[in-house]
Amino acid sequence: MTKKQDLAWWQKTIAYEIYPKSFYDTAAQGTGTIAGITAKLDYLASLGVGAIWITPCYKSPMVDNGYDVEDYREIDPSFGTMADMDELIARGREKGVRVVMDLVFNHTSEQCPWFQESRKSRDNAYADWYIWRDARPDGSAPTNWRSIFGGSAWAWCEERQQYYLHTFAPQQPDLNWENPDVRRALLHTFAPQQPDLNWENPDVRRALIDIANFWADKGVGGFRIDAITYIKKPAVFADGPADGEDGMYAVHAATANTPGILDFLHEFKAGVRDGRDIFLVGEANGVGADELGDWVGERGVFDMLFEFSHTKAVSCEDEVWCRPIEWKLTDLKRVLAESQANTADNGWYPVFFENHDQPRSTVNFFRCEGPAAAKAKALGTVLLTLRGTPFVMQGEELGYANRVWKSLDEFDDLQTRSQYEFALSEGRTEAEALAGCNRFSRDNARTPMQWDANASAGFSAATPWLPVHDDYTQVNVEAESADPDSPLSWYRKLAALRAERDELVAGSFEELMADDEQVYAYRRQGEGGAAVVLANLSGEEASYDAALVADMKLLAGTHGSTEPGTLRPLEAVVFGD
Ligand code: GLC
Repeated sequence: MTKKQDLAWWQKTIAYEIYPKSFYDTAAQGTGTIAGITAKLDYLASLGVGAIWITPCYKSPMVDNGYDVEDYREIDPSFGTMADMDELIARGREKGVRVVMDLVFNHTSEQCPWFQESRKSRDNAYADWYIWRDARPDGSAPTNWRSIFGGSAWAWCEERQQYYLHTFAPQQPDLNWENPDVRRALLHTFAPQQPDLNWENPDVRRALIDIANFWADKGVGGFRIDAITYIKKPAVFADGPADGEDGMYAVHAATANTPGILDFLHEFKAGVRDGRDIFLVGEANGVGADELGDWVGERGVFDMLFEFSHTKAVSCEDEVWCRPIEWKLTDLKRVLAESQANTADNGWYPVFFENHDQPRSTVNFFRCEGPAAAKAKALGTVLLTLRGTPFVMQGEELGYANRVWKSLDEFDDLQTRSQYEFALSEGRTEAEALAGCNRFSRDNARTPMQWDANASAGFSAATPWLPVHDDYTQVNVEAESADPDSPLSWYRKLAALRAERDELVAGSFEELMADDEQVYAYRRQGEGGAAVVLANLSGEEASYDAALVADMKLLAGTHGSTEPGTLRPLEAVVFGD
């Protein structure tokens, strides 16, 4: 049985995602800063957070808010300077909060100097760094692949008279990982010094040994690796079966998790991770639960993997935002149980219900009406007690709901805009298209952090780049810190409980009441004790067999005391022996 003392620091801690543009603005400019994160380190530490994943803050034209990187070694001036980042890393380490950088390796910005060169001709030094193809004889794109943000995945370049591939926006050209120079350049930026690498290509090897330990030597705690399943493209580029009226085929179905990708990633792991006390968590769309063994743990390439089977279980058909899926709690529990089972003996699971690409969980994971605060506490109980490292999205601990967006103009996100257009092109009305964006837009997760009840929720002295949620006078850090029944106080309480009770971190996971459509229940068995978690995720009263918690005491309950055997709507309890 796993013992807590045998686990790595990142398995025992709570991780927290920061969308820096929306976290805290120390420059009165309407967008957040790195210094703003440093200013809030005590807040993060008070939640038991030991790792902060910061979404990209490198120099970028910000077409996709930083996921279009122009220079991996510079901080974008809107966020501050490299000195600010060094300061954050150093102060964070003092307070036990380690910085996790986001590596965007599938693509760069079109403004990246590599692409600026590559696009000039077919024979320059960077000509082969991106994925270039000739047009078909009729001038059309090489395949019918549709990009993830909508429209063709190919963009025409006048200068080269060729198309380039972009899995995401046209301003995010895909790198050609088949080219060893590309891999070397990426490693050169991020890898620590590794004297023992066994590379066939001596240039790559030399470059790695030379590597300036750029980010790793700054003392970061790990890396989140963006969109990593797309880096390897298929050997043959062929049309896929059209899956929409536009005659296109989803690019991710054609290019995600292609054979051979793991070879690249083993190289990457050897160059970046081995010998370091850091962790790698990959964003891995397209990896099935049954393949996890190749991706994480002893044999794998990462420590943890964000896979999306549970968010897909509650999402929408074909990712068309106007067609939400009809789902049941048992659908969700089944996929979570699979992920738990697949990481029970190998690898580790990053538990998450929100990130900057998802709507707020108080909407996304509930089918009932009810206050967002109560939903946040019920689901937060699961987030903080499932087996794995919890990843809390900023604001999730406050119980954010989705914002009510009144028109398309209020949104910033490029995917939201393209989804809106897509809905119209499918014959939906403007009201239906807007409703889809309200329900699913990524901007729901990106509205400014609410610190207090002052103007702009204390986020900025200027007008925030994205509107603040209307509920900010009640839903904010200051008000919730003073309220013992708030979601924030509940998160703090559970974080303290995790620190005390080894089984909540290291214990095994055994699902209880798997067929129940209201209650999510499981037992965590550790060396020295056991806990039973029961969360009523429905809006109705629910019952369970009190024998499940016989001889146990209530460690924490969302509603104060509880009556064993029954749960009030949205009540969650943690019992322990
Ligand atoms: C990942 C990011 C998302 C971004 C995309 C392109 O999915 O999480 O925010 O738009 O990659 O980099």
